[in-house]
Amino acid sequence: MKPWMNKSLSFGILGLFLVALGNALCFLWPTVFHQILQKELALSPTSRSFELWKDTSSLPPMYMKIYLYNWTNPEELNVKKMHFTQVGPYYFREIRQKDNITFNHENKTVSYVQRRTWYFDEKLSNGSLTDVVTNLDIVVVTAVHKIRYWDHDWQKSLSFLLSSTSRRYYISKTVDELLFSGYTDSLVTMSKIMPVEDVPTYDRVGWFYMRNGSDMDGRLNMETGEDDISQLGIIRKWNYRDTTRFFKIPCNTIEGSAGEFWPPNREKTDITLFSVDICRPITYEYEGTVSHLGVEGYRYTIDKKTLGNDTRRRYPHEQAKFFEPTTTTEDFFVSEHLSEMGFTTTTESVPDNDRSSEKSSSEYSDDDPDVVNTGHCYCGGECTPSGLINVTACRFGAPVFISLPHFYKADPILLDPIEGLTPSDKDHGFTITLEPMTGIPLEVSARFQINVLMQPSEIVTLLNNVPKVYVPMFWFELKVQVTEEMASNLRKLLALPIVMLSVGITIIIIGLGLIGTVAFLYFRKKRQTPATDATSEKAVDESSDKKTEMVYMDKTNSNEDANVRGDRRLYAKLY
Ligand SMILES: *[C@@H]1O[C@H](CO)[C@@H](O)[C@H](O)[C@H]1NC(C)=O
Ligand SMILES: *[C@@H]1O[C@H](CO)[C@@H](O)[C@H](O)[C@H]1NC(C)=O
Ligand SMILES: *[C@@H]1O[C@H](CO)[C@@H](O)[C@H](O)[C@H]1NC(C)=O
Ligand SMILES: *[C@@H]1O[C@H](CO)[C@@H](O)[C@H](O)[C@H]1NC(C)=O
Ligand SMILES: *[C@@H]1O[C@H](CO)[C@@H](O)[C@H](O)[C@H]1NC(C)=O
Ligand SMILES: *[C@@H]1O[C@H](CO)[C@@H](O)[C@H](O)[C@H]1NC(C)=O
Repeated sequence: MKPWMNKSLSFGILGLFLVALGNALCFLWPTVFHQILQKELALSPTSRSFELWKDTSSLPPMYMKIYLYNWTNPEELNVKKMHFTQVGPYYFREIRQKDNITFNHENKTVSYVQRRTWYFDEKLSNGSLTDVVTNLDIVVVTAVHKIRYWDHDWQKSLSFLLSSTSRRYYISKTVDELLFSGYTDSLVTMSKIMPVEDVPTYDRVGWFYMRNGSDMDGRLNMETGEDDISQLGIIRKWNYRDTTRFFKIPCNTIEGSAGEFWPPNREKTDITLFSVDICRPITYEYEGTVSHLGVEGYRYTIDKKTLGNDTRRRYPHEQAKFFEPTTTTEDFFVSEHLSEMGFTTTTESVPDNDRSSEKSSSEYSDDDPDVVNTGHCYCGGECTPSGLINVTACRFGAPVFISLPHFYKADPILLDPIEGLTPSDKDHGFTITLEPMTGIPLEVSARFQINVLMQPSEIVTLLNNVPKVYVPMFWFELKVQVTEEMASNLRKLLALPIVMLSVGITIIIIGLGLIGTVAFLYFRKKRQTPATDATSEKAVDESSDKKTEMVYMDKTNSNEDANVRGDRRLYAKLY
């Protein structure tokens, strides 16, 4: 063999190798990439996300901003509209820690207790914790609400008690008392000796009283995504149960993400989150694609499906058995469930007219047994105007209702009796933006407003003449965004598949070029005298119009064991 042959042979082999490598990069890389991604995203004691999930204190600070509503004209209740000014924001740095973490490999879940701790940040805040704010007296309103179905005498004695202590329907307290440190109240102290069921054992009143650093979020059981990454982050159990006792079947189902992990490969469909604060799942609807620090994300937002009082939803068939219209399983399950929990079985059955109003539905077919009016199954009797979420059952019977801040996206009648609220999308929506390929949250703006229902009572003198109003108490915002550094890493990661594809294609082209050149030179050498090696190479370059290139491609694609006759034809074309 001539030395020339050796050289060209090794070039040919190199070319083949490059073609194979390029193909592998193009076709195998996406699979490999997704496998790496799945492995990286799943939660395990050794995964990258574990430490940050366990304790968020090393992350960039996350703040809960609270705005309180100050009722400035409580004396003029029946004369003028209720007027509110928004005070704050008061900034609280939020740290989340997970305790008692147990990984259950047999069912690919992790069980944990979440603790949230808040630290007031005076510098960022617009005001101090000693600011005095006036608003509805929730103790009076709750007490009257709780005993409104009791017999007349009980209600009369409460009425007398309130008058004799010259209670008002409003109260002025400092921000700290209203939120974290709480305040004592004679009615609360008294309720300890009264036969009021389901009263919390607190001695003070405050929206976050005893919540700071406590384990009151309960014990959660969440999917780790170990075998099936599409399950990552889904809550399976809350306090050892897969249902809550707060809403009717099937709305008592525990479902949705815990909000910290979202599986990769997001689609433009609804996503669901389970909120322990309001004891129910919340649906976010796909709103659009947005760009956050140069990373594209899908934006999901709270809308009609959660806020409406008439929303239909199809439950999967295995859940549908719980509310088959032909049987009484519904009541059976409710009562069984309650007695298990140690409650007496005085459950309200679902009235028939629930079903008839369901039939007016447009989105779903009339007699689909799987379709449930979730609006009705969440409101537990009386329903609210749209835009409110009734959390009375989950708040110890206090008439508390959640909405978006400033009653954004709610029925405008809620704004009629009050002044000072100005809903806007930018400031008052609740949105989650996820990077679709990895499911990593790019931005979360969690915002809720807490309202209390004030309604007239015929028997309790203090509330004889008050109007029925959903009174806004305060609202909060928890905003988390990826930092520029995280975004830049994410951009690199997301560019990787395209980079790999381009590299793969380039390598294939180089490989093909090598094989082609070697083959060309080989056959030229075989046919002609070795005189014009250099010039012929040049000729290829110069005359390399599209035709030549196509011929090269044809040849390499067609056969590995270079067909001699085919290459002769190549010569014919070149010369
Ligand atoms: C709330 O309103 C009252 C009465 O209008 C006022 O005295 C008080 O300063 C206000 N509180 C804050 C924090 O602005
Ligand atoms: C701070 O509070 C004052 C009075 O409550 C209000 O007028 C002002 O707009 C607030 N500033 C910010 C940045 O929210
Ligand atoms: C919450 O508790 C921590 C200590 O456990 C304390 O330092 C912090 O001030 C508390 N936050 C509030 C708002 O009371
Ligand atoms: C998974 O297993 C653990 C431990 O046995 C158990 O506590 C948990 O409830 C199980 N979760 C589910 C969803 O079955
Ligand atoms: C809110 O829910 C409670 C308990 O589920 C129910 O008794 C009450 O009637 C509801 N209130 C409204 C206004 O929907
Ligand atoms: C449901 O909401 C709509 C719009 O806010 C309201 O008109 C209707 O009265 C509500 N339904 C019930 C049963 O309260």
